[in-house]
Amino acid sequence: MNEIIGAQHEFHDAEFVAGWADRFAPTPERLKLFNVILSELKSRIPQVSCVVELGIGPGYLADHLLGELPGIRYFGVDFSDPMLDIARQRLKPHSSRIAYVQADLVKDNWWADIPMSVNAIVSTWALHDLGSRENVEVVYKDCAQVLGDGGMLLNGDFIKPDKAIYEYEPGRFEIAKHIAMLRRVGFSSADCLLVLEEEIESPTAAQNYACFKGAI
Ligand SMILES: C[S@@+](CC[C@H](N)C(=O)[O-])C[C@H]1O[C@@H](n2cnc3c(N)ncnc32)[C@H](O)[C@@H]1O
Repeated sequence: MNEIIGAQHEFHDAEFVAGWADRFAPTPERLKLFNVILSELKSRIPQVSCVVELGIGPGYLADHLLGELPGIRYFGVDFSDPMLDIARQRLKPHSSRIAYVQADLVKDNWWADIPMSVNAIVSTWALHDLGSRENVEVVYKDCAQVLGDGGMLLNGDFIKPDKAIYEYEPGRFEIAKHIAMLRRVGFSSADCLLVLEEEIESPTAAQNYACFKGAI
C-alpha cells in the first residue's frame, strides 16, 4: 500500500522519449478520448479556427484533429526537444497548418508567440506532469485568459479516482477538484465529459483518466 501511482517524467531524454512514443501509440480507449475532443471541436468552434495543444508530445492527438478538421490552424506547445522532433516528423503532412512553440507551460508565456486569437485549447495526458495541483491551476488560469469569448479548454488527463486506495502523484487529483479549479480561474462552465479505464484495485499509471471541458 506504499505504492504511489505515477509516471516517469524524463521528457528531455531522447531515448526515454522514443520509448514513450512507441509504448503509447493510441489504443482504442485513448481514441475514445481523442474522439470526444474532436466532436466538441466540430460542434462548438468555427470551421476556421485556431487550436492550441499543450504538451503535444509525439503528436498523436494533433494528427487525429488535423486530419479531421481541415479548417484549423494548430499550435503545438511542448518543452521537450525530442518530443517536438517526433511530432514534426509525424505531422509533416500537415506542416502548412501547424507551428510549434517550445516553452515550459508553468515558467514561460507559451501564448506569447501565437499570433491570432485562440478558439480552443486541448491537451491529453500532460498537465499531471506539471508536478502539483498548484501548477495545473496556473495553466488553467492562463488558458482562461488566453481564450476569447466562446472559447473552450478540453483537457483529457489522469485523475485520482474518488475511491482510490493508493496514493497518487500530486498532479493526479479528483474530478471535483478539477471542476472547482476551472470555475475558480474564470471558466463560466466546467464539466467532466467522460472517465476512461477506471481501475481502483490494481491501477497502472496509464489508467484512470477523464476529459474536462471549461467554456468561457
Ligand atoms: C505524458 S506526455 C503526453 C504526450 C501527448 N500529449 C500524448 O497524449 O500522447 C506529456 C508531454 O507533456 C510535456 N510536458 C511535460 N511537462 C511540461 C512542461 N512543464 N512544459 C511543457 N511541456 C511539458 C512532455 O514533454 C510530454 O511531451
